[in-house]
Amino acid sequence: MTDASEWKGGVGRKWANEWRRTDRSFSGLTERLLGRASGNGLFHVLDIGCGAGELSLAIARGHPQSQVIGIDISEDLLSVARVRGAHLGNVTFEHGDAAVWCKDSFRPDRLISRHGVMFFPDPVAAFTHLHAISADNAGLFFSCFRSPAENPWANGIASLQPGGKQPPPPGGPGPFAFADKDHVHAILNAAGWREIEFEPFDYAYIAGYGDDPVEDALEYLSTIGPAARVMAELGETEKAAFIDRLRGYLHDHRSGKVVAFPGAAWIVSAMH
Ligand SMILES: C[S@@+](CC[C@H](N)C(=O)[O-])C[C@H]1O[C@@H](n2cnc3c(N)ncnc32)[C@H](O)[C@@H]1O
Repeated sequence: MTDASEWKGGVGRKWANEWRRTDRSFSGLTERLLGRASGNGLFHVLDIGCGAGELSLAIARGHPQSQVIGIDISEDLLSVARVRGAHLGNVTFEHGDAAVWCKDSFRPDRLISRHGVMFFPDPVAAFTHLHAISADNAGLFFSCFRSPAENPWANGIASLQPGGKQPPPPGGPGPFAFADKDHVHAILNAAGWREIEFEPFDYAYIAGYGDDPVEDALEYLSTIGPAARVMAELGETEKAAFIDRLRGYLHDHRSGKVVAFPGAAWIVSAMH
């Protein structure tokens, strides 16, 4: 579970410090999502939960005729995005809760998100609102994780903690809240979206890279994600033992300069 207050505070701050490694971890997925979301020209693009701005920036660079707005609830992530996009005239980053945000002069005809839509406390209300502010011909394209079982790094890391607890089941707000496609279909359908489709997309979730990719991955996973969450709750002795087990686990997934895990996402699309 990652709620709004966490994104607005410490979790957002940590993600802001780790945007480079985050973009690297998602790179295979990003290309596919951009390919799906960019077809048939673009005009007014809304990036929901834009974080440090990778999707917004790529669209703004590749489609200079488009006007792109990225919205997020984390000021720390928005600060990074604004610096990264300062040289581009067709992208802005705004602070706001996507469940209620709107701008009279901006009716998006493309709504996109890379893993930014699984944190709404009331997803039907949020997607109903996004439907209401969109143009009649709008398309929605977002990625989200499939189940923890299909993302072995999640279950693998959970099994390293004392007691080997599993991550919370899909359902409540959090990284795996949209794992069940029937659940997501029901949300979007109830919110008025049509032609809802799910593409299962597998990619390499790159956790570490370089001459010592294990230490690189260890530093990254100690900062954000499920391992960081576990570590924050452990005492010093248990934490040291967990880090040892995590280091071994990362070694097992090293190939040359890379530590990577199978990553499994949905690319969800829908029409207004
Ligand atoms: C997993 S991160 C993904 C960030 C970014 N899309 C990326 O791919 O790097 C989820 C993002 O959603 C944002 N977020 C969560 N709830 C939100 C809401 N209600 N409105 C806008 N942004 C939200 C968080 O602050 C965070 O930046």
